[in-house]
Amino acid sequence: MPEFRSEPRVGVWLIGARGSVATTVVAGCAAVTAGLNAPTGMVTETPLFADTGLPSLSSLVFGGHDTVDCPLPKRAEALAAGGVLPHGLPSALSSELTAADREIRSGGPSAGDTRDPDDLIDAFTTDILDFVRRHGLARAVVVNVASTEPTPTGSTLPPSSLYAAAALRAGCPYVNFTPSTGLHHPALASLADASGLPYAGRDGKTGQTLLRSVLGPMFAQRSLTVLAWSGTNLLGGGDGAALADPAAAAAKNAGKERVLADTLGRTPEGETHIDDVPALGDWKTAWDHITFDGFLGTRMTLQTTWQGCDSSLAAPLVLDLARLTSRAHEAGLTGPLTDLGFYFKDPVGDGPPALGDQYAALAGFAERLRELQGEGNAR
Ligand SMILES: NC(=O)c1ccc[n+]([C@@H]2O[C@H](COP(=O)([O-])OP(=O)(O)OC[C@H]3O[C@@H](n4cnc5c(N)ncnc54)[C@H](O)[C@@H]3O)[C@@H](O)[C@H]2O)c1
Repeated sequence: MPEFRSEPRVGVWLIGARGSVATTVVAGCAAVTAGLNAPTGMVTETPLFADTGLPSLSSLVFGGHDTVDCPLPKRAEALAAGGVLPHGLPSALSSELTAADREIRSGGPSAGDTRDPDDLIDAFTTDILDFVRRHGLARAVVVNVASTEPTPTGSTLPPSSLYAAAALRAGCPYVNFTPSTGLHHPALASLADASGLPYAGRDGKTGQTLLRSVLGPMFAQRSLTVLAWSGTNLLGGGDGAALADPAAAAAKNAGKERVLADTLGRTPEGETHIDDVPALGDWKTAWDHITFDGFLGTRMTLQTTWQGCDSSLAAPLVLDLARLTSRAHEAGLTGPLTDLGFYFKDPVGDGPPALGDQYAALAGFAERLRELQGEGNAR
């Protein structure tokens, strides 16, 4: 007999489901649902989203694709050993981690894969639809948290775009939390438009770019002239290893630099670098060095140091985005969710680049959902 639940259940299909971010999402959702931890960092748990009809955390069911087979409980143990998850949490949540692990399917393309792009899209679509059917889900949101891939050259669809196409084929809202191409591929643009599905992206804004989207507007609003803005990031883990590839790092850095041009109105001197330091694991240090001129041309500097745990910064945002995109789909919203620019380095659509304005847009989005919820209740 299926368990009776009054609230419909919502699937969260993670591409890169065995990675650090995905594991922290699954463990974090279970920990908050069980009352073991507070939902710190989740904007959807603040009063801003009261009465907006978001799916509850306990209604979320996790599955996904990955190309490695390390079981989720083991991955969670490794994250706990690195201080990313609280000590003891993986054993306390072993049944939830094991349940999510059972729902992870082999992704692709793997080495020697002979399937053509359409076969791969079909296989991914079948996995997602099977997940939705077996769990009796009201809908599923596909979220890309797989390793960053280089920007593709030529017309071949990169893996992130194969998964994005599968999301469309399965009728699922889509979120790209990475800088990879995903739905941005020209071959998918008209399909995305015609799908009538909501989508959001790209590249979660969790550290250096978050600070830049606050500090850039400050310099502009105070009429200070930023001459140079240089940044260095040191990080390890799977993300650090993937970003050791200069082509993948270039995809990431483009988003980090875009926010400066957009908030300052010009591109200052300086570059952004990413160095892989495996010993740091999931912990990141980001330095920014900003040179600016004040009144009468007096030259000054601001230096910032951000020391963050990448997965614990990213996971609450992924949970927020899964809930928001699911609710947008339920409410009949379609196309690029520009009002979710608050969450991204390189947001879809033409939203504002400054964090304060993006928060105001997010508040407007919450209000819209609240109104739609009120209309739905009144019917
Ligand atoms: N943590 C943050 O603060 C943050 C912020 C913004 C964006 N991101 C992005 O999130 C992504 C995940 O980061 P992470 O730290 O979890 O990395 P990770 O290396 O720990 O995990 C990535 C996972 O993707 C899987 N993968 C690779 N290719 C795949 C494919 N073709 N199909 C399915 N799975 C595949 C890998 O096997 C791995 O398990 C990265 O792209 C990163 O840039 C992270």
